[in-house]
Amino acid sequence: MNSRNIVLIGFMGCGKSTVGQKLASALSYDFLDTDAIIEATYGKTIARMFEEDGEAFFRDAETEVLRKLEKEADGVVLATGGGMPMREENVALLKKIGTVVFLSTEIETILMRLQKDTGRPLADGEDREKKLRPLYEKRLPIYRNAADLCLHTEGKSFSEMIEEIETFMKNRE
Ligand code: S3P
Repeated sequence: MNSRNIVLIGFMGCGKSTVGQKLASALSYDFLDTDAIIEATYGKTIARMFEEDGEAFFRDAETEVLRKLEKEADGVVLATGGGMPMREENVALLKKIGTVVFLSTEIETILMRLQKDTGRPLADGEDREKKLRPLYEKRLPIYRNAADLCLHTEGKSFSEMIEEIETFMKNRE
């Protein structure tokens, strides 16, 4: 396991990218995002990939990115797509890449944040709550299980969250 890297997991809209970028800059680490890597590799958005190639293709691309990062990533904060820990193989890879931090956010907050979102195929459709709530319930125990640190984000400022992660990392050394 790489002792420096930090991997952020959690549901869509929990703040992985924003927290990840701020954390990376606080630590002077590089910030990487598996969705962004996949989009750059295939030259299309995730939404288009779901449409043209199907979800299974995207899920394979996610595993492929982790296999590569497991060999290369050092001094990195990695944000991952919300579905990443759903594959057992991915969880094992995430744990090899670094310390896994679950950003835990209430579904109500997530629904509010994703209200007008258009880039997430799994949140698409008429009744978002009907789609997202069961997915959230199903995933919650998987995120918790995969995580080294479960960080509750509700009511916390970014600097509080970053401090909590930094303290956890120091105590792990
Ligand atoms: C997904 C989450 C998205 C993206 C894709 C699938 C999911 O990432 O990977 O749309 O299965 O929850 P974010 O968690 O960054 O929104």
